[in-house]
Amino acid sequence: MSKQFPPGFIWGVSTSSYQIEGAVNEGGRGVSTWDTFSHLPGKIANNDNGDVACDHYHRYRDDIALIADLDVSAYRFSIAWPRVQPTGSGAWNEEGWAFYERVIDELERKGIAPHVTLNHWDLPQALEDAGGWRNRETVERFTEYAREFARRFGKRVRSVATHNEPWVVAILGHEKGIFAPGIADRAAAYQVSHHLLLSHGKALRAMRAQGTTAALGIVLNQSPAYPADPDSEADRAAARLGDGTLNRWYMDPLFRGAYPADVLAYLGADAPKIEAGDLEIIATPMDFLGINFYMRQFCSAAQPPQQPPYEYGKTEMGWEVYPSALAVHLVRLAFDYSPPPIYITENGCAMPDVLEGDAVHDPRRIEYFRAHLEAVAQARALGANVQGYFAWSLLDNFEWAEGYDKRFGLVYVDYASQRRVLKDSALWYRDFIRAQGATQTKD
Ligand code: FCB
Repeated sequence: MSKQFPPGFIWGVSTSSYQIEGAVNEGGRGVSTWDTFSHLPGKIANNDNGDVACDHYHRYRDDIALIADLDVSAYRFSIAWPRVQPTGSGAWNEEGWAFYERVIDELERKGIAPHVTLNHWDLPQALEDAGGWRNRETVERFTEYAREFARRFGKRVRSVATHNEPWVVAILGHEKGIFAPGIADRAAAYQVSHHLLLSHGKALRAMRAQGTTAALGIVLNQSPAYPADPDSEADRAAARLGDGTLNRWYMDPLFRGAYPADVLAYLGADAPKIEAGDLEIIATPMDFLGINFYMRQFCSAAQPPQQPPYEYGKTEMGWEVYPSALAVHLVRLAFDYSPPPIYITENGCAMPDVLEGDAVHDPRRIEYFRAHLEAVAQARALGANVQGYFAWSLLDNFEWAEGYDKRFGLVYVDYASQRRVLKDSALWYRDFIRAQGATQTKD
């Protein structure tokens, strides 16, 4: 394995609270929108839910030991807001904070840097009942939560991302209605995206005011948009709109202080209500930008839309494998936005894994990681300032609307026994990191 990355590069694995913790009724935890949504019949494959998940709430020590075995120097995880503030306002739940303190203590003991996400989608249900992210008040509640997190842990964690993938919360949760809270209303969706961005800016300011030393940023899911037929003006227009709604709708306000005019025109009366000063708050400078990358957008104006050729295959999610799009996108971000250091905060794939004794042979996942890491190295060579990479995911886990069928882990989870088995890709990732001569925090 060749050396493609510098010694200080951050190597990590990612998870999120609702997908792994379980213990939904323990330790004084409140109800989240995902508890409610996953218990509605027919919303999740097999009617699965996160009640038990990977039982990480009880097994976090063993799971952190697994991370250490992989020679990974960074762990990205999220705080379940309803665990630390059951109704999203008012009193803090000390038992909930104590759980995350134990996690951070354990990571410190093992020399693994904690990278925290405050909102990986599990909004307290009580806030949803009051209008959720559609209600501007939720911005204030989130800011208080971020301030409290920073007061307690702002000097102990390496980075804090406010939100994970605001596009997913807005569009899948409020325009398409296939994720919590299950609303299908385009105007609501874009109002939600504005409130998420506004709360991000306010939270950054509140956390900085606490004297936090952690790097502060946000995590966006992004992909470049390719026209199905590059000679078709209709397909090129579809690609511009796909780029606008997924990428520029978030990047422009964060880095240029304005929403893109073409997307505003497309939204018409569904454009969000914006108050004076909002955009300035949204554009508060960040210390890092997190990018989650899974696939490109293949944009076709035809009905039904033309499918990509799947030259490099597709994953169990049906997502096209197209690694060079990651390089293309990172270079584009570098030139168009001059962002702060970028971390790839998620990248990975669901594959048809089979447990054979004590092994899971997953050569296609290894190839996926290899090709995407090569794309990251290429982008760096072309000027993209990428300083970290986190594989999604440490463990097989609750994959939202797909339930437990789709396995993204480096580590296989046998849900009946909660046994963990390192897949071949986990060993490959460990060897890849070693070959880079990584020296970060692990000493
Ligand atoms: C991303 C989510 C993450 C995981 C991956 C597969 O959209 O951030 O929680 O489900 O997709």
